[in-house]
Formats: sequence, C-alpha cells, structure tokens
Amino acid sequence: MYRRPGLGDQRDWLLDFTSSLKEDKPIFRAVVLTALAHQIHLFELGLVPEVRETISLLLDALEREEEILSGDFEDVHEALESWVMERRGGGWMAYGKSRNDQVATALRYSAIRMLISILWEINRLRGSLLDAAISNLELKIPAFTHLRPAQPSTVSHYLLYIEGELFHHYRVIWHVLRQVVDLCPLGSGPAAGSSVPLDRGRLADLLGFAGVESNTLLATGSRSFETLTLGALSSLMVVLSRFCEDLIIWSTPGINIVDLPKDHVSTSSIMPQKRNPVTLEVVRAKAGRLIGSLVTLLSVTKGLPSGYNLDLQETNERFLGALRDVRDSLRVLSDLIKGVVFREVKVEETLSQFVAEELSRRKGISYREAHSLLASALRESDWDLGRALSSLGLETPSFDEALATNVRGGPNPEKLRNEIEARRRLLRGDIDKLVEYEAEKMESERRLLDLARKIVSGSSTGVS
Ligand code: ARG
Repeated sequence: MYRRPGLGDQRDWLLDFTSSLKEDKPIFRAVVLTALAHQIHLFELGLVPEVRETISLLLDALEREEEILSGDFEDVHEALESWVMERRGGGWMAYGKSRNDQVATALRYSAIRMLISILWEINRLRGSLLDAAISNLELKIPAFTHLRPAQPSTVSHYLLYIEGELFHHYRVIWHVLRQVVDLCPLGSGPAAGSSVPLDRGRLADLLGFAGVESNTLLATGSRSFETLTLGALSSLMVVLSRFCEDLIIWSTPGINIVDLPKDHVSTSSIMPQKRNPVTLEVVRAKAGRLIGSLVTLLSVTKGLPSGYNLDLQETNERFLGALRDVRDSLRVLSDLIKGVVFREVKVEETLSQFVAEELSRRKGISYREAHSLLASALRESDWDLGRALSSLGLETPSFDEALATNVRGGPNPEKLRNEIEARRRLLRGDIDKLVEYEAEKMESERRLLDLARKIVSGSSTGVS
C-alpha cells in the first residue's frame, strides 16, 4: 500500500464524506431521552398503565442504536416506537407527544451538547492564541493591507486580532445557546398542544432545559433556533477561513512568515519539493459548506406555511453536520497553533508612514507636505527607504521606536502584554461559566436516567 508521508493524527481530517458518514448517527440518543422524559412524566401524573415497561425498554433502547436503526422505517421516531411496541410496551408513546415536538426537542437537546463542545473548542483556541501571542510579543512582521506590507507590527498583535474575533463570536453563540436554543418544545404536540394535562415546565426540567419554548406553533414549526445558530457559526467560520488564508499565504516559499507543523502539510504524490497546507485548505472549505448550510436552511424555511412541514426534515442533517464541522475545524486549528513557528521578517519598508509623521513634526510642515516629500524621495531612490532618507538627511528609525509611541490596540509590546493579561481574565471568566453550564447539563441527564431506573425498579412511586 502506498501512503504519502506526513499528516499523522491529522489524516482523519482529510477523509472524504463517504468515510465520515459511518460515524454519523447524531440524534438517536436525544430522541430516546425525549421519549423517556415524556413517559416519566406520564408515570408521575399516574394517568396511564404500562409506563414502567415502556421506561424499561427505552433505557434498554439507549444501548441498541444499531439494531433499532437497522429496520426499514420512515424515521428514528417510528423505528423506536415500533421496537418498543414489539416488546410489549409503548402503547402510550404518542399520548400528548407527536413526532413534531419530539424532533424539535431532540434537535435542540443535541444542539446544546454540540454547542457546548464548540464553545470549549473556541476557548481552547483562544488559550492557544494567547500563549502564542505572549511568546511572540516582539516578533516583527508587517501588518498587511491589500496583501502588501503596510505598517510595522508583531505576530502577537496579529494573534490578538484573531483572539478578539473569537471572543466576539463566543459571546454571541453563548447568547443564542442560552436564550434561544435552550428552551424546550416538548408537550407542544403536532402544532397546538393536546388535551393531556402535561406540565411543560416539568418536561423541560426532566430534560434539563433552562425553560419552555412557550408557543406551541413556534416550538414545533420553527427552526429559527437553527438559523440563528448557523448565522453566528457561519460568521465564525468566515473568521477561521481568513485566518487559514493568512497562514497559507504566509507559509508560501518566498514569504516564509510561518512554518506549519508537519502533521498539517502533505507532500505531493508527484512533486518531491511540495509541502501543501492541506488541513488549512479543508478548514477554509468547511467555511464554504457552513455558509451553504445556512443558505439551505434559510431557503428551505422561507416559503413554508406556519407549523410543521416535512421540508423541515431536510434541514436536520445539514444543521447537525454543520455543528460537527465547526467543532472539528476549531480542533484542527488549535492543534496547528500549538506547533506553528513564526519567523521574523524585514519590516523596514513599512516604516515610511512613521518617518513622514516624524518629518512633519520635526520640520513643522503639514503631514501632506511630509508625505509628498518622502514619496518623491522614495521614487527617486527606487523605493529604497534607507537611500530615500539619507537623501533627505535623515536616518532610518528603528522598529522599536516606531512601536513605542503606538496607540491603544496597536502593536506596542508593553501595551500588548497588558492586553493579553486582560484577555486571559475574560477567557477565564467565560471558562468558569461554561464549566458550570456543562456540569448542569450532565447532571440533569444523569438525574433523568436515575429517575427512570428508580421507576423501573419500583423504588419511585411517581404519583404526587
Ligand atoms: N422525521 C421528521 C423530522 O425529523 C419528524 C416527523 C414528522 N412527520 C410528520 N409527518 N409530521 O423532522
């Protein structure tokens, strides 16, 4: 077998869709847990017989994904109900619960867990960027505009720009998660409830949601929790894509600002000299897919009449696939940042704005005059700043001088050091809140399963 060398652990990232599909059964568990919460609540209400058997079978179903999904059914809900019914339970699974409120609940339940891991990955990347910013505090590179060297800057300043973008997106995603996604649709029935006296607050509690998505039509027929999520995530992926693009350009032979870690470059099957930035290319492409998924969701939903329509089913795979792509892209970049090496580059040519500013102050002339003076000196000396300056009787200033006076938010290393400390504090605060939120979600799932087991063993009587 011929395998190109390099890549190591990153090889999986490049596997094509056909191979990654095998691992993709994203909402089965959430569907079973949703059914379980509904049965537990019916048990608590003491309204129907046979719930113990159903609860026991649903607990069992959690371990039997392969078997249950292997039959020829329309969807996971039908497969599950049929599996439970064949084993003499399940007669009340649709009592006050429709597939419409159930799928909306399962999607939100899964999305909450995926968003938590996305938020973790954003924080991990933020941490790695801040570490790299501290170790490259004074490493000189130009800041670019129009992809041409513009002003003297540092690697640290650049990395803080990316971290700042991640921070903004983190806060927006956190908000969408807490305020929109984390509301429970269960109990809404197909569109406008049912006559079963379900306590929707209790159903939400059983599944660990922060609250109830109150209006039943919204709870069942809307997917704006998905479009809002993908809106924020697409914007995040655009940031990651631009980051990739910079690193791809900066690692090009001849530019050499960046050395990519060996796990992230692949050789060519024919050209021996090549080190292609393949993991970055795939992240950049994932950004395109994310935008595509957002557009898919918006287009599928825009013309729909209110309430559930089967068109919505077509969004499930796109939505969950998009969440997975974002999480994995962030993982790849965190790994890359840990091993990347930045190289100092010459920035003399970018000092001319600083010189013109200095010239106008020293000579007491307007900045416009100083600018044209220097521009013509540069033209006459074939764009060599050193020669241009000596023709004006001036010396080339140092990089440090140019940075020393720089404004807030600019690349001055001392100011950046403080900035990095401030960003670390923000990151720590975000991590503390995320730890707490994730623990609540894990605890609520544990409680749900414990309660189910107690009911089955007869140690919980339920009826209150
Ligand atoms: N499988 C559907 C989905 O995932 C839920 C089924 C709703 N079907 C229906 N005819 N109301 O969205």
